[in-house]
Amino acid sequence: MPGSDVATREVLEPLVDGHGRPIGDVRISVIDRCNFRCQYCMPAEGLPWLDRSALLSYEEITRLVDLLVRMGVGDVRLTGGEPLVRRELWRLVAMLDAIPELDDLSLTTNGYLLERQVDELVAAGLRRVNVSLDSLVADRFFQMTRRDSLAQVLAGLEAAQRHEALRPIKVNVVALRDFTEDEVVRFAEFARTEPYEVRFIEFMPLDADRAWSRDRVLPNAEIVAMIDAVHPLEPLGRKVHSTARRYRFADGQGEIGFISPVSEPFCGDCNRIRITAEGMLRTCLFSINETDLRALLRDGATNEELETAIRDAVWRKELKHRIDDPAFIQPPRSMSRIGG
Ligand code: 5AD
Ligand code: SF4
Repeated sequence: MPGSDVATREVLEPLVDGHGRPIGDVRISVIDRCNFRCQYCMPAEGLPWLDRSALLSYEEITRLVDLLVRMGVGDVRLTGGEPLVRRELWRLVAMLDAIPELDDLSLTTNGYLLERQVDELVAAGLRRVNVSLDSLVADRFFQMTRRDSLAQVLAGLEAAQRHEALRPIKVNVVALRDFTEDEVVRFAEFARTEPYEVRFIEFMPLDADRAWSRDRVLPNAEIVAMIDAVHPLEPLGRKVHSTARRYRFADGQGEIGFISPVSEPFCGDCNRIRITAEGMLRTCLFSINETDLRALLRDGATNEELETAIRDAVWRKELKHRIDDPAFIQPPRSMSRIGG
């Protein structure tokens, strides 16, 4: 390190919303495209994709993250679409890893390109990975994702597992009524025998097809009961700012987590914000309003101007989602165009 000639970085006031919640976590979508077509996210024919020039550049993303980190946002997660579809994602990882005071740098991926890219991502500084995996049976995996890629995703997980630097490795299972029930116990056994943290996520109204309805949600309480009947569970609770309620298997062999945004919302201690692939700041998954950071970046805004725009938006962060409100409006963006 050159040491003496490194300019002192100005530490900024912590980023806090209007309800007193400090913001510590940013999810950044690096691309809206995806190589899968999950039922609960995208239509079979895909969506109109953004032009390359519409995407924030790696330099633009790094500038925003540097500013956010100085406001106390230490956890950075890269998402998509499918983030590994963006060219040379490892370059962005390296740029972000070079930011001092970054606590965590992680990736949410569907796993399809992980086997090919994990070595260079880890070498660049990636610290954690979450892989989406909704079925452990090839034809059911195909039914859910419309891609015949189970083996490739499992190979990606194994490749990730070979890197000691990537821990924990989480597996996200989106649960759908009349689909997931058949595999609940199989996933529990996967959690007991494989070194991954398995978490069930309730289906949220963020699908492009707008087929979401309450009766397509399989509440996590039902999944807990199904597992508990075969492999007794003991609750471990939920860590602050974590979305997952954790259980351990009573015989001591492994853990399993449940993310229940629909049946048990955890908005009260939400510490997250999101930036879409084209640079829109969103303060909630279900936000209707967003703040155009790309316009500011490309109009030559100073860091102070960016900081003010971010603080103003965050101040108005939604108190909670209103999925249960009869007047709930599904946001115009699907999950792939927000960033999970
Ligand atoms: N409801 C719940 N989870 C979803 N995901 C994508 N769409 C939905 C939805 N409608 C999940 C993905 C991935 C994470 C980013 O979000 O499976 O694990
Ligand atoms: Fe792609 Fe993830 Fe959406 Fe599936 S859920 S289509 S993997 S962006």
